[in-house]
Amino acid sequence: MKLAVPAETAAGERRVGIVPDVARRLVGAGWVVSVQRGAGTAASFTDEQYADAGAEIAADAAACAEGASMVVRVQAPDPVGAAVVPTGAASLSFLQPAASLETLRVLADRGCSAFSFDLLPRISRAQSMDALSSQATVSGYRAALTAATSLGRFFPMLMTAAGTVPPAKVLVMGVGVAGLQAIATCRRLGAMVRAYDVRAAAKEEAESLGATFVELGVRAEAAGGYARELSPEELAAQQQALSDEVARADVVVTTAAVPGRRAPVLVTRAMVEAMSPGSVLVDMAADSGGNCECTEAGREIDVTGTSVIGMANPPSGMPTHASALYARNVSNVLALFAPDGVFAPDWEDEIVAGTGVLREGQPAQPQVAELLGGAS
Ligand code: NAI
Repeated sequence: MKLAVPAETAAGERRVGIVPDVARRLVGAGWVVSVQRGAGTAASFTDEQYADAGAEIAADAAACAEGASMVVRVQAPDPVGAAVVPTGAASLSFLQPAASLETLRVLADRGCSAFSFDLLPRISRAQSMDALSSQATVSGYRAALTAATSLGRFFPMLMTAAGTVPPAKVLVMGVGVAGLQAIATCRRLGAMVRAYDVRAAAKEEAESLGATFVELGVRAEAAGGYARELSPEELAAQQQALSDEVARADVVVTTAAVPGRRAPVLVTRAMVEAMSPGSVLVDMAADSGGNCECTEAGREIDVTGTSVIGMANPPSGMPTHASALYARNVSNVLALFAPDGVFAPDWEDEIVAGTGVLREGQPAQPQVAELLGGAS
């Protein structure tokens, strides 16, 4: 069994699919691990560390993938990257199938299997494999720190000889994994945190971390513990009801997402204009369209004195630990896919079937068949 770890090719991506510690464990479990030269550099892992862990260092992506049973990346391979996955082998990454059609076609033509972390069932047994959660934890932490360092005020209350400083008022919108980590980090820094979500379960979780939950009475649960998309009327009512909350906050952190959809717009331009000069809005949903009407992904813009920061690929901004957590998720997936030292995913398993996008070149789910315009 050979595991290939090519360098990431997406612009600005600094993470790597496997870190040296995990490579060592995989080698111990019988895998040949091949890492493309320099793949870990941007995440502060050197080729020497991989070699010391027992990995082979390959000169380029093609040499790295040659003879592999599985090619692991963080981001979806582009079509060129997909073309190096050996015929009949498997690819594991965040794939976002609807956004990766060309890549899927290349993999399908090569008879490859493809697995996507985006589709991992959010069940207890899959928690150790849940890269959506591990990366969202990094994102939430980064969003809170970005807000704290961009704000011209303290987060904690301070009583000093020069006077008393009131704590910052933070509003977190979207209390999933990232939102909870943003709440926890802002609380650790001493801010007063209010939080809002459309899922009922979010209230107790936010409160357990010391946030005050904002009740609007809108409920929008969907299958799998996710939120459903709000109707235009519900969204407008939500924006209206949240206007005062936003205006009162020194910091707004938005993380709201609906799987497979554009991020909901929770904050309009008018709401940002009503915020005090010097306030900060950190939009963690920038990559999927943004929760704020003013957001531009990867940019910080000024809207009447409020900084609107569109965080692009937040986990890549903390690549060492983001990669370490991702690599552990990967190694737990590999333990499931190759239980007895033989790479043989059991397609009857809910986790294998749930993450499977292609099975030996064929669509593994009806939605994928639809995307590719063929029958499943
Ligand atoms: P996500 O990234 O899909 O969305 C982030 C948050 O945005 C969610 O809490 C969602 O309810 C909220 N949201 C969506 N539309 C909104 C709107 N219009 N206004 C306000 N908030 C809105 O969520 P994530 O972090 O992936 O978590 C999804 C669910 O999966 C959560 O219930 C989480 O607790 C659960 N989960 C379960 C796990 C397990 O049991 N293994 C592991 C991880 C998450």
